Amino acid sequence: MQATKIIDGFHLVGAIDWNSRDFHGYTLSPMGTTYNAYLVEDEKTTLFDTVKAEYKGELLCGIASVIDPKKIDYLVIQHLELDHAGALPALIEACQPEKIFTSSLGQKAMESHFHYKDWPVQVVKHGETLSLGKRTVTFYETRMLHWPDSMVSWFADEKVLISNDIFGQNIAASERFSDQIPIHTMERAMREYYANIVNPYAPQTLKAIETLVAAGVAPEYICPDHGVIFRGADQCAFAVQKYVEFAEQKPTNKVVIFYDTMWHSTEKMARVLAECFREEGCTVKLMWCKACHHSQIMSEISDAGAVVVGCPTHNNGILPYVAGTLQYIKGLRPQNKIGGAFGSFGWSGESTKVLAEWLTGMGFDMPATPVKVKNVPTHADYEQLKAMAQAIAKALKARL
Ligand code: FEO
Repeated sequence: MQATKIIDGFHLVGAIDWNSRDFHGYTLSPMGTTYNAYLVEDEKTTLFDTVKAEYKGELLCGIASVIDPKKIDYLVIQHLELDHAGALPALIEACQPEKIFTSSLGQKAMESHFHYKDWPVQVVKHGETLSLGKRTVTFYETRMLHWPDSMVSWFADEKVLISNDIFGQNIAASERFSDQIPIHTMERAMREYYANIVNPYAPQTLKAIETLVAAGVAPEYICPDHGVIFRGADQCAFAVQKYVEFAEQKPTNKVVIFYDTMWHSTEKMARVLAECFREEGCTVKLMWCKACHHSQIMSEISDAGAVVVGCPTHNNGILPYVAGTLQYIKGLRPQNKIGGAFGSFGWSGESTKVLAEWLTGMGFDMPATPVKVKNVPTHADYEQLKAMAQAIAKALKARL
């Protein structure tokens, strides 16, 4: 890949992964992704982050389109996850850097990932500055955003923030800047990325933004390691504002209903519930677990006020697609949600109790008794579902 100039002396290098669809093995990336690295030319020419190991050749080609890789003096490794650090050994071999800068927890992660012996690693502290010659960079740790080692790099004079995974989006595109992509596409991709990767660390997100703002970080370029670069103060402010919004997880009137079904009774209940919520003025997303990937369900839940889960009883418990989806969602720690449960059964009928336990275990409020139906629902059962939808919608409106 040819390097893309951002501003004088700053270049986007790295790789576009057009075929990525299963990002990190747990979330869909329907638009592909990129692994961005950033080359800053100065008296000490510096590369920020690398790429996935299999893209090392593409990264070196990008660097070579600007300078001979042997002229790189410094490497800055902001995060050791292998989509960014996988090519580190190859880069060290190709560039023979004078120094490799990383955070204290980055150093520990580097040791356990690469078991190196003689790399010239130097730890940088939160708030520490480093002169590259004409330019100065300041490092800020952003622990748990989204790994313990994570940090960002800020060029105050140039107003460039190299943000690693923060503000990332899974977008593979020939366009390299956010102002070249429709804003709704940007917001959607940012939300999908945040909901499925960063959401457990919402408090750290708000704290990191507060810390950076207090330190005077007001970027005109935000350069993430995935997707496109935010260009211009307005685009950067949009990215920051979206992150605050995602992290705050304020309730909305949106209801996500997800379910699985065997002989369509739970599906019928789900469809009736969707109609009841619609009549209550709620926005509804009805998602069958076998048609929707768990990451798509989580993306929809991220801006929902209520999550209603349906499953028939199977072997005294719940079906595996629903169990897997609940397990996935629980790990991502959604906040401020109202829950509801429903399902059909043949003889023992434990599923709604199991679902309610999952939802209360995630801290969801449950304003309505779960609705369970023996075998096939009747109109009387639909009235129960209507009452449940009304109780949930009422609780939801009270939060808005
Ligand atoms: Fe994009 Fe945490 O790696």
